[in-house]
Amino acid sequence: MGNTEISVSHPCVGKKRGQECPLPFVIEADPAAADTPLHELLDWISENQDRREEDLHRAGAILFRGFHALQTAEDFAAIAQRMAPEILDYAGGTTPRSAVTGKIVTSTDAPRHVVIGLHQEMSYLAPTPEFPDPTPDKVMFFCETAPGGGGQTPIADMRAVLKKLPPDLVERFEQRGGLILHRKLPTEKRYGYEVTWTTAFGASDRNAMEALARQNGWQMHWADDGGLEITHAPSPVVKAHRVTGERIWFNQAHLLHKSVAPWTSAWLGPSLAQRAKARLLRPFIQDRFFYHSTHADGAEISLADVSTIRRVVAEEMVLFDWRKGDLLLIDNKLVAHGRQPYQPPRTIFAALLADTPRKRPVAVMPPGTPAARTS
Ligand SMILES: [Fe+2]
Repeated sequence: MGNTEISVSHPCVGKKRGQECPLPFVIEADPAAADTPLHELLDWISENQDRREEDLHRAGAILFRGFHALQTAEDFAAIAQRMAPEILDYAGGTTPRSAVTGKIVTSTDAPRHVVIGLHQEMSYLAPTPEFPDPTPDKVMFFCETAPGGGGQTPIADMRAVLKKLPPDLVERFEQRGGLILHRKLPTEKRYGYEVTWTTAFGASDRNAMEALARQNGWQMHWADDGGLEITHAPSPVVKAHRVTGERIWFNQAHLLHKSVAPWTSAWLGPSLAQRAKARLLRPFIQDRFFYHSTHADGAEISLADVSTIRRVVAEEMVLFDWRKGDLLLIDNKLVAHGRQPYQPPRTIFAALLADTPRKRPVAVMPPGTPAARTS
């Protein structure tokens, strides 16, 4: 423990199904500490790492609130650099994210009417001997401009989700060896929020894309229509936390599945006419652009199982309203995040962190469907 003392309190701000909820754990500056300068905040962050990690591993997410020195993306970047040894790249640039400063990005540029479902960042990536944990350890968000309405970043404790899921469902998923993510991306954007393979992976040509697939152990082939089909290596459905050893439901079967793809409803836009058109176009769109998960043995996931997982995750969803200057630190393994629709303005920045230095940066983007993007 260092010398920097900042007086804080721990109010409850999260609500789960109408009930007060201890998630996130709130660290709110007392009025006398609200104007603590940034350099003192940074010292305090560094000096209290062990206690903060304990709080994070207990609660799953920490909300820092009421620190007036936190105003800009640069302030956020300075804090992020104290929170973990490495800020990860989103290699290849992003759509629909935008770079802000350094490795800080906008949380998402997905249209404001789109609901982004709860997910742990990049949980579909398969571990390899060279790279046993390719997923971020922490995700951080910073509220530069509070939403005009809605726009919460919902969170959910995925330890609780695992405990609540029917044991036979979990056993079925584990016995089949985990999940395989299949995706297809078009070469040129045509409909709605399609993401092309060039924008998704930052690959400038087919050779670069093929090299990226080899590097990540993906199977891929070029479809007759010029689109790219990728089959990931199997990834586990349950993960043990690196520090606490707790078992966590860690996959996106409930989001990256054709039955719940965004083009079923709001793919082309929020209006009734756009939603109706999206339904008419669905057969054409889903042949060009899809994300779909199967069991690792190739069997389809039953719609009943997808529905059950979605229900349990929704029951564990916690909401709180953003305030300007809020900073949310999430353990990416323990807690999932998403985004609610909003009224403008809304400016939320994001950063992905690694607790241990990585041999190479995360080499892929999050999946391109807005429904699966941060938050
Ligand atoms: Fe995300």
